[in-house]
Amino acid sequence: MIDDAATALDRRFMAAAIRFSERHTGLTGTNPSVATLLVRDDGRGPWIVGRGITAPGGRPHAETQAINEAGALGPGATAYVTLEPCAHHGRTPPCAEALVRAGIARTVSASGDPDDRVDGRGHAILRAAGIEVATRVLAADAARAMSGYLRRSTERRPEVTLKLAISRDGCIGRKGEGQIYITGPIANRQTHLLRARSDAILVGLGTLLADDPQLTCRLPGLEGRSPLRIVLDTRLEAPLSAGLVQTARRVPTALAVIAEKASASAEPFRAAGCAILACEADPASGRVALPELLEDLAARGISSVLVEGGAGVARAVLEEDLVDRLILVEGADEIGAGGLASPLDPHDVPDRFLRSRILHLGRDRWTEYERRVRS
Ligand SMILES: NC(=O)c1ccc[n+]([C@@H]2O[C@H](COP(=O)([O-])OP(=O)(O)OC[C@H]3O[C@@H](n4cnc5c(N)ncnc54)[C@H](OP(=O)(O)O)[C@@H]3O)[C@@H](O)[C@H]2O)c1
Repeated sequence: MIDDAATALDRRFMAAAIRFSERHTGLTGTNPSVATLLVRDDGRGPWIVGRGITAPGGRPHAETQAINEAGALGPGATAYVTLEPCAHHGRTPPCAEALVRAGIARTVSASGDPDDRVDGRGHAILRAAGIEVATRVLAADAARAMSGYLRRSTERRPEVTLKLAISRDGCIGRKGEGQIYITGPIANRQTHLLRARSDAILVGLGTLLADDPQLTCRLPGLEGRSPLRIVLDTRLEAPLSAGLVQTARRVPTALAVIAEKASASAEPFRAAGCAILACEADPASGRVALPELLEDLAARGISSVLVEGGAGVARAVLEEDLVDRLILVEGADEIGAGGLASPLDPHDVPDRFLRSRILHLGRDRWTEYERRVRS
């Protein structure tokens, strides 16, 4: 059964499940944040009898938590799952088998799971047990909610979001002045939310030296959700006194350096709590090779990387066509003399990006673009 055969009710419960799944985005390790709702109708209208969401760290999975919550009300229910239930024996038995054992009457799923160990097998287990299965219900919405995981599974690299704050006169900073505010408090909080939902943040050495940034999520209640902070530091030139280095024991921090610099001189940084990522050098520039770094990050289970600058790194990821999502936040004020030109003109965004959302946040304009599907 495909989306066309799904009822309006199916779409409503799936939309609720997708919204619920987003609660743990960025917290579930190498697994995507998936949700399950168990719904039954005993003649007085449908009601949710069990719900589950992938736990922080990735386990337990959503399905088993929803089944446990439903208890005796599970048998006969419909399961709404945002991702095809898993089919492989890992540390726990497959969720597809758990749904069968729980006596679920019908399953409605959104996205298929491209993981080689699943990829249709989860649905096959359900069908073989006589359970009716509807697939691809709100599949595009679910794919958007777990786009990082899907990209890592299919392309073996994380999803890359480039975010740039640009002043009214097209600048991203002022020479020699370190961090200056281009956008207001609402847009800044939106940026912190973006950090909380990302697995890693990436900046270049230039930003570390100029701004000495924290790159943490400082939203009240979400302080524990700061992602891994990665600095591109070709020859390991970051000062040990940098805030990122000094706080590495509290917030995970990695320095991406070319392999020959990842040796003895890296010891003080390791001692401070930084991870040292030994990277391949780009043959032309001698700098950290970005596609290979992204591959390595994917192999470590990182599904989403937020590039927060500065100019050099932004230019590099755009030139190497590594950006999947682009977020331009345009401030209302000018920087004027000494301004550093943005690597991207908000009025001339490359054709390969399709505008997907505009938010007006105080005096700032937040515009999101997604890469058009490659033909
Ligand atoms: N408005 C915003 O959204 C925003 C955000 C962040 C920063 N900024 C501003 O941007 C300015 C800093 O920009 P920036 O261009 O000097 O610094 P950057 O882009 O943060 O860092 C560039 C440096 O990163 C190193 N790097 C290593 N591998 C690289 C690679 N593959 N590609 C590119 N760089 C690589 C390079 O060091 P080596 O040359 O030693 O190899 C390069 O010089 C500051 O003024 C800061 O305030 C603005």
